[in-house]
Amino acid sequence: MDIPTRLQTLDWERYTKCARQAAADGIVLLRNEKAVLPLPEGETVALFGASQLCYYKSGTGSGGMVNVSHVVSIREALEDEPSIRLNRSVLHLYDRYVDEHPFAAGEGWGKDPWSQAEMPLDKETAKQAGRDSRTAIVVIGRTAGEDRDNKAEPGSFLLTETELDMLRTVRGAFSRMVVLLNTGNVIDMRFADEIKPDAVLYVWQGGMVGGLGVVDVLTGRVNPSGHLTDTIAERIEDYPSSGNFGTGVRDVYQEDIYVGYRFFETVARDKVLYPFGYGLSYTTFRISARKKQSEPLARLSVDLEAEVTNTGHAAGREVVQVYAQAPQGVLGKPARVLVGFEKTRLLMPGESQTLQIQIPVRSFASFDESGKTAEISAWVLEEGRYDLYVGENVRDAVILDSEDGAFTLSEDWMVLQEEEALAPACRFDRMAMSEENGEVHLVYEETPLRTIDVEKRIYENLPGEAAQTGDRGLKLSDVEKGSCRLEDFVAQLSDEDLCAIIRGEGMGSPLVTPGTAAAFGGVTKRLRDFGIPAVCCDDGPSGMRFDCGDHAFSLPNGTMLACTFDRELNEQLFSFLGLEMVKNRVDCILGPGVNIHRNPLNGRNFEYFSEDPYLAGEMAAAQLRGLHQSGVTGVLKHFCANNRETRRHELDSVVSGRALREIYLRPFEIAVREGGADALMTTYGKVNGIHTASLYDLTTTILRNEWGFDGIVMTDWWAAMSEDPSELAPSEASEPGTGEAEGEDVRRLKRSIEGKTYDFSPMVRAQNDLYMVVPDGEKTAPSEDGEAGEPTTLSALQGGRLTRAELQRSAMNICRFAMKTEAMKRLLGHPTEVTVENVPEGEDLSAVESVTFQPVPQEGLELDLSSVHPQRGEDYLFGLQVTPNTHYRIELKAESVSGVLAQIPVSLFFTTIPVAEWMFGGGEGSEAVKETTFFSTTRNSVMRLHFGQSGLVLKSLRVQSIGT
Ligand code: BGC
Repeated sequence: MDIPTRLQTLDWERYTKCARQAAADGIVLLRNEKAVLPLPEGETVALFGASQLCYYKSGTGSGGMVNVSHVVSIREALEDEPSIRLNRSVLHLYDRYVDEHPFAAGEGWGKDPWSQAEMPLDKETAKQAGRDSRTAIVVIGRTAGEDRDNKAEPGSFLLTETELDMLRTVRGAFSRMVVLLNTGNVIDMRFADEIKPDAVLYVWQGGMVGGLGVVDVLTGRVNPSGHLTDTIAERIEDYPSSGNFGTGVRDVYQEDIYVGYRFFETVARDKVLYPFGYGLSYTTFRISARKKQSEPLARLSVDLEAEVTNTGHAAGREVVQVYAQAPQGVLGKPARVLVGFEKTRLLMPGESQTLQIQIPVRSFASFDESGKTAEISAWVLEEGRYDLYVGENVRDAVILDSEDGAFTLSEDWMVLQEEEALAPACRFDRMAMSEENGEVHLVYEETPLRTIDVEKRIYENLPGEAAQTGDRGLKLSDVEKGSCRLEDFVAQLSDEDLCAIIRGEGMGSPLVTPGTAAAFGGVTKRLRDFGIPAVCCDDGPSGMRFDCGDHAFSLPNGTMLACTFDRELNEQLFSFLGLEMVKNRVDCILGPGVNIHRNPLNGRNFEYFSEDPYLAGEMAAAQLRGLHQSGVTGVLKHFCANNRETRRHELDSVVSGRALREIYLRPFEIAVREGGADALMTTYGKVNGIHTASLYDLTTTILRNEWGFDGIVMTDWWAAMSEDPSELAPSEASEPGTGEAEGEDVRRLKRSIEGKTYDFSPMVRAQNDLYMVVPDGEKTAPSEDGEAGEPTTLSALQGGRLTRAELQRSAMNICRFAMKTEAMKRLLGHPTEVTVENVPEGEDLSAVESVTFQPVPQEGLELDLSSVHPQRGEDYLFGLQVTPNTHYRIELKAESVSGVLAQIPVSLFFTTIPVAEWMFGGGEGSEAVKETTFFSTTRNSVMRLHFGQSGLVLKSLRVQSIGT
């Protein structure tokens, strides 16, 4: 049967509009004294802050590497805004300053500076600007990212003295002052109380259209409706995790479940500057909520109805937030827990909307890991009265039905029985709450320790083996069509095939779209002959990263998207991203990132959503729904407790079973159960002593057995795993050290990065199906690499350290996943074709072309380029298969027919890194040769020639190794 190609259209204008809406709706207005905002029509504005010339579209590292054709910065958007008159002399001042003090870009991975040096602002200049313009807008910029935590230092989490002086000076010169915080994450906010700007807005990092979103809010075209997804405390030391957010190899999560507002609202209300969920609007709202049931819990949920009325003078949107308060009981509870939220549509002044909010009973439950109630490892509602609070933020939410509360239980109610899993093995005390005379106090208690034997659990639950049949001619498409069982298909795979299918190939695998993170599934010819497609995954999470330099849409960062509290908007935005992925033959994006903002200093907070697990889970579920609508998917990351970047490969997060369940696992659980997540990425580090890449209870007991997940789990890139079986179940309860060095982990990591890890059995045993990444999927045994003696997955199988059935189980997970992908449809010849409409002029959107990778032999390689006729602005991509860590000479031979004074620039890039800038003069027909050297870091190197002008006749390109 001929299956027709599915045709889809990606409307670039609607995509851009949607991202722009998110970049406005995620903005959080913290102050707006004297109604200084929105700016009136024709307002004269002086723009301060050197960051106006360095807009941060995102944080740094893999989540920030989307190449774009253009970023609309705040300044550019203001300059283009007809209703605002910008003070030109102040702009020129900053232009001159930045000319003289060029911005530091930082050198290398994880080295980007957190901010740029601020221009000292003298009082006279500010006064003059204050006479010429009515409103001052000051931009403060910050970034951080992967392998780059924030620090509690000026220039990072704290403002610098120069920045503070600038703010004071501007305050002295202007009666109307607005501060814009272009940051990935919350920063120290004490300046707001001291300097008292009239308006302060977190504008976050809004992606490539971020500046437009900011101006939409400043002008009032969009009424701000974003709300904080983190508490802003007075000082960094006030955050309950700060004392245990270290730089060593172990972080003990002593604050337990009391993360963010769960801590502050319970025992430290006075430390809060801006509460969780806070965010102002240009209008006001009245919320009146009521319980809908006369019989609460009859349907295992509490159903509410909240009528929201716009009581002000501007159209706007409101977020209704619902918090639960459970009785303290024997477990101890936070004073507030977010259990529901809804956002209204745009309401005109005087208009009302009724929102329905359903709260399942499970949301009121706590996890009892040790049987303090009568239950062990179970979600329990303790007896007593349960209250709900409804409002615009956690602090202002008011009690619903003060007489009866939400419901009262006369005895404990166990709503879900789970198994003991992931409990810590080392002793530490954790925060707990104790209630005396109605007052709740902070106390510390011993954390319950692991009591089960994980190894025994693994052995008792080994899967059954499908007897190997050899090739019976069954293809994966036969399983898809239902004409054979997946078990029978996988039974055909040899041991070598099984050891190959668990490896992803990358980065920049020639099997998939150039410049992407990995190929998996059909990574060998034999596997492809069985009809298993090579599936493509790529970073993530805020747009696609193409290391070959190609462009993609860059979305607002995770924090900003969550601040919208808007499920539909997230879903829609990600359905657009999904179409863009299909167009570029990317099957899964490495995101959403749902780790908890445990501490504001985590460098990757920008990619993640919130300190609250429910909100994080809901946002992830919405984004996944959007991707699924377009036929692609996301890889939820990083599973779990990935809450610090410094020494992340060695970091052991020591966390109680309860905190894991209620805080750190919860967003993943929501995304799996509600968002239909079918792919996850584990972390580099360890949870309670075991690398998550080989943590059976995480990726089998909890994820699959309890949550019903039947997708794939992949490691983070080159992640190490716990190899020694004794590490799987440390039995002795030890004291947590602060340990400064764990040589073994570093050794394992280096081996992984060098592509010298061959034994993936601990990972397979845990049902972490895929190792990401090896340089060459075809290469299996170390003997082929000339390194006999290294244990391999095959030798683990032969030596009984792994069973064939375990390998088959992961192979089935991978095949089941691969069958659902666009890669499968492409293989079967009926791909979805996406055409892009309404692309503005100047936007370069060609889908990433495929690249052929040519091996560079010892004697060198000569590529014939005579059929390539480059025009101005065009790129020519080519792939080299080289020996990593080797120097190569590259020579480009070309002739130009132009006159002698012609200048034809050609640039050579390796991924996005410039390797050479060549200028071909007008040779009037004579041949010229340009050369450079290049140091290879990866086996498959996508190279790009960029032509700044037309008029070159290409001849050839020669590549020759010149040694290490
Ligand atoms: C990051 C992941 C990312 C991967 C591939 C790792 O360093 O931790 O989040 O998806 O690289 O780029």
